[in-house]
Amino acid sequence: PSNPKLQLLRYQGKWLLQSWVPGIIAIQRGGFAPRRGGGDVVLASLPKCGTTWLKALAFATMARRAHPPAGDEQHPLLRLNPHDCVPSMEKLFAAGLGSKIMDALPSPRLMATHVHHSLLPASITDNPHCKIIYICRDPKDMIVSLWHFVRRRLPEIPFLELFESACEGRCLSSPIWDHILGYWNASKTRPETVLFLRYEELLHDPADSVRKLARFVGQPFSPEEEEASDVEDIVRLCSFEQMKNLEVNRAAGLSPALQQNAYTNGSFFRKGGTGDWANHMTPEMAERAARRHRRREAPLIRPLFLMI
Ligand code: A3P
Repeated sequence: PSNPKLQLLRYQGKWLLQSWVPGIIAIQRGGFAPRRGGGDVVLASLPKCGTTWLKALAFATMARRAHPPAGDEQHPLLRLNPHDCVPSMEKLFAAGLGSKIMDALPSPRLMATHVHHSLLPASITDNPHCKIIYICRDPKDMIVSLWHFVRRRLPEIPFLELFESACEGRCLSSPIWDHILGYWNASKTRPETVLFLRYEELLHDPADSVRKLARFVGQPFSPEEEEASDVEDIVRLCSFEQMKNLEVNRAAGLSPALQQNAYTNGSFFRKGGTGDWANHMTPEMAERAARRHRRREAPLIRPLFLMI
């Protein structure tokens, strides 16, 4: 695309935003050192698969002692976009701010990445002190969400063009399937350090996912917290309606951390549901997208992608 902010680059077989690549290289070269015993948590996702929601839920859960999810008018999630509460590693490192900001974060640190599992260094993927939480979404809904997102910058881009490039493995974070499968496999081989969540399950039963997340990061809800409905308060605080309508997320103004992307805080909240693909794809297109993602690793796809 002509917009330099959206320029893609093929790096180690993956299509990535060109602006991320210097950050990825810095991370691969050891720029990010997990804290021993510090309980670092990396939130991983394909773009448009619920990153913003996962950032909000994980932040609210892990910070709940300092910031109770209800009755705290100064709660960071009421004042900041979730992307400003949980930094994106490749963007920070690309801006040369990685070590400075990461070092300043209190333990357990919470950060995020859109990078494929195979591109992350062993210091993250093979480290008992560093946990990964992945959020997966039906790729058809991801493609639709991505189109709406990209359209804010490139209003003229036809849906068919983005659909084709996604099917051919040439769109942002392609190959999509490699991205999902990398984290899926890791969650099977190292379940103690990789948790695999699905956007659709979060929608269906957000409280269950929040409890799962809290247990995974070693901060399960106590009987007192359950009694006080803390889980439900976190779900409410991070719900689509609540987040979308917050002043900070409605304002057209950009937060400094998001400025480099040239999107507004509101760009991250659109419909917040499942199945919007049906409003954009013919049954033949949907079948083609599913086939594309079914082509490899066929036995795995059944349990992983029953929803496609
Ligand atoms: P739609 O475009 O389908 O509405 P990401 O955060 O990875 O960029 O993903 C954005 C998608 O997640 C968008 O999907 C957005 O509306 C949805 N989303 C953002 N916050 C959400 C929330 N709190 N609950 C549910 N969905 C949310």
